[in-house]
Amino acid sequence: MADQTTARILVASNRGPVSFSTAADGSLTLRRGGGGLVSGLSAIDDPNAVWVCAALGDADRAAARSAPDGRLDLAGFDVGGQAVRMLDIDPEVFDQAYNGVANSTLWFIHHMLYDTPTAPAFDQESADRWAGFRAYNAAFAEALAAEAAPGAAVLVQDYHLSLVPELLRELRPDLRIGYFLHIPWAPADYFRLLPDEWAVAVLTGVLGADRAGFHSRRWAEAFADCCERVLDATVDRAALTVGYRGRTTRLGVHALGADAEFLRERAHRPDVEERLAGLREAVGQGDSGPRRTVVRVDRTELSKNIVRGLQAYRHLLRTRPEWHDRVVHIAFAYPSRQDLAEYREYTAAVRRLSEEINAEFGTERWQPLILQVEDDFARSLAAYRLADVALVNPIRDGMNLVAKEVPVVSDAGCALVLSREAGAWAELAEDAIGVNPYDVLGTAEALHRALTLPAAERTERTKRLAAAATALPPQQWFLDQLAALSS
Ligand code: G6P
Repeated sequence: MADQTTARILVASNRGPVSFSTAADGSLTLRRGGGGLVSGLSAIDDPNAVWVCAALGDADRAAARSAPDGRLDLAGFDVGGQAVRMLDIDPEVFDQAYNGVANSTLWFIHHMLYDTPTAPAFDQESADRWAGFRAYNAAFAEALAAEAAPGAAVLVQDYHLSLVPELLRELRPDLRIGYFLHIPWAPADYFRLLPDEWAVAVLTGVLGADRAGFHSRRWAEAFADCCERVLDATVDRAALTVGYRGRTTRLGVHALGADAEFLRERAHRPDVEERLAGLREAVGQGDSGPRRTVVRVDRTELSKNIVRGLQAYRHLLRTRPEWHDRVVHIAFAYPSRQDLAEYREYTAAVRRLSEEINAEFGTERWQPLILQVEDDFARSLAAYRLADVALVNPIRDGMNLVAKEVPVVSDAGCALVLSREAGAWAELAEDAIGVNPYDVLGTAEALHRALTLPAAERTERTKRLAAAATALPPQQWFLDQLAALSS
């Protein structure tokens, strides 16, 4: 077993860089995850880095139990030397924390997803879940405290672990603690829907960090507003600091960019070429030539606003018949968080509306909408390359990497229809076509504008979008935060 107190750099997140499944013969197989954090951390060439995460399923639990007090034995797996400590948290506690509080409450608050006449209602069951959330955060803090070398840097990720910085500081005041939120922060009035005790705990939890990072200045300022309103903390907006109970937490803005090198290489492998050919065939030729494509790629996620996107496409077809037979909407909506009833209902609504659109406009030769729900990364990249228009219209989004990835891999330039409520808007506004995500007619109009953008302008915009989208690659994003924690 590895020495338990040698880590100089620690990362903590709910979902870790690896996950396990059980093969037919009962053995464990391992999969390495993707995403900005995984590629960001690969910048660290330090054998004393460790990633602390939760076991998410039964196979993860079995793997975690095989290393009860320490790090997973990843010898024999090709994971690039990454040390991982996976926490086997009681399944009921995990469910309370992950589904009950993180995804059903904090996610809903920060994305403003509640239908407020009926929800939220904080009752006894919510209080029980909150106790689970506290226990889950405490388990992370204890594991980090046990792993960290004196003075180590700890980078705590996201809303699941909002309480960790404060809990960890109590255990280990010698550590340098950074926190990063990957989602938006709610406006103060909305944040105060939380019971007062929870609101205070989440804010003081994050303020336990030396530095708290956000994808955009807008979310950093919203956090500062909440500290001022709820805690009566001292906020310096110019310096982006929050003073509370004798300590000062610095706020930072680190807008995660797309990983151009990885994407460009990956998007030209044979499996993507194969899917590209398949998509071209499915889109087909109209009577007046090749059809245009409007592409969206999302998890089937309430905040992604897929239903209003489909309504906008329907409105376009209803009001501008010149697009009949000339455009196809490719919508990839991959299953997500199906343990939550709201997500299952939302998935059903997306399917229903898609069927209605095809029934209303489809002809023998033209299928106006192609909806795919099976997750397939190679096919997503193929759609990025093919897209004439990308539709990214979230209600709210911390960043939204799809908006940044499409211009990077687009073959012939792509017009980007982008919600002004996405974090990415702060960097892409100039060359995207902006939409208010609630405005279905406005979104339909934006789609029309995007579809008719002159080719030369589309090419120029795409170049500038790609440059802005790749300004801060994942590795630099990670290293910047680490450096800022030492300064
Ligand atoms: C999105 C958010 C992340 C979050 C993740 C959780 O990607 O942007 O901030 O951590 O969802 O997803 P999961 O599938 O782990 O619940």
